[in-house]
Amino acid sequence: MKVAVFGATGLVGSLMIKILEEKFDNLEVYPFASEGGRTIKFKEREIEVKPISEYNIPKLDFALFAVDSFLSKLWKDAFLKKGAIIIDNSSAFRLDKDVPLVVPEVNIEDLRFHKGLIANPNCSTIQLTIPLKALMKFSIKRVSVSTYQSVSGSGRDGLNAYHFEKEGKTYEKTPFSNVIYNNLIPQIGNFQNGYSEEEWKIINETRKILKMDNLIISATAVRVPIEFCHSQSVEVELEKENFDLVEDAISNFSGIVYKNNGYFTPRDIVNKDEVYISRLRKHPFLDNVYLFWSVFDNLRKGAALNAIQIMEALIED
Ligand SMILES: NC(=O)c1ccc[n+]([C@@H]2O[C@H](COP(=O)([O-])OP(=O)(O)OC[C@H]3O[C@@H](n4cnc5c(N)ncnc54)[C@H](OP(=O)(O)O)[C@@H]3O)[C@@H](O)[C@H]2O)c1
Repeated sequence: MKVAVFGATGLVGSLMIKILEEKFDNLEVYPFASEGGRTIKFKEREIEVKPISEYNIPKLDFALFAVDSFLSKLWKDAFLKKGAIIIDNSSAFRLDKDVPLVVPEVNIEDLRFHKGLIANPNCSTIQLTIPLKALMKFSIKRVSVSTYQSVSGSGRDGLNAYHFEKEGKTYEKTPFSNVIYNNLIPQIGNFQNGYSEEEWKIINETRKILKMDNLIISATAVRVPIEFCHSQSVEVELEKENFDLVEDAISNFSGIVYKNNGYFTPRDIVNKDEVYISRLRKHPFLDNVYLFWSVFDNLRKGAALNAIQIMEALIED
């Protein structure tokens, strides 16, 4: 099987290479980035990174895109022409009606209508939709989420900005709208109608994945000065009230690890595959309202692993 990784030198792309190596025995991998002159290691072999160019793209089975939206749009057709099924990590196509937006634990059935292109959701959307899917059988009335997102969510430049600032230096290409070291930034992307782009992604993508076009949902997305893993504080209003059933649904759902005592922190969850949920509790004053704390690895399940799980599901099919 032939698989291209476009953006193979970035945070998501390099993790994709590592996960492909872990999961597959017979795979030819084709790494692409902006320029050559570099290699990646795959199964003890050094493989040359190719600069992206129509002449360099071979016939392919899959192309995993780990580049920004502009590049995804620019190069989509060239990869489709080579027979690849594209799984795209950017936000370029996520809300297109004929593009499935898939979290395997939540809506794997949507893969059936793909036309050669599947979108990987935003990392915070993946993190939220898994527990919400577990709770859907209790009829969700309303969701409110606050996120605590690590700097690696903004790629290599995000990590660099954090480390430069930690050393008292300025990073010219910082993706952040403020100083991130020793700070919190309640803005991820530009504001539109009072909500940031990241907040709109969480809202709109969650509605699409859960097929709940009218879900009442609000979000506050905050960048925090840690390197890896995103956290969320989630409040969900359900139709019916029963703590034990809610706890059962969360703790038995595929893709969730649940703790009913204590809590998880980002440091515990680096390199883990699941969404880690703790501090599940009832609202102190309102009926049918539950709160919980969720942590997951934004690079792994939030991007690289989810894309490769989609690829695995397509192969099995
Ligand atoms: N980071 C996360 O937690 C996360 C989570 C979910 C989704 N995503 C999405 O995944 C995608 C990749 O994110 P990332 O965090 O991995 O970013 P990143 O670390 O900045 O990596 C970007 C990649 O794009 C390549 N690239 C940049 N300009 C290029 C050009 N002109 N031609 C060809 N390749 C070029 C880079 O290659 P060079 O080495 O040649 O510059 C690098 O391999 C983005 O769409 C992001 O929104 C990220």
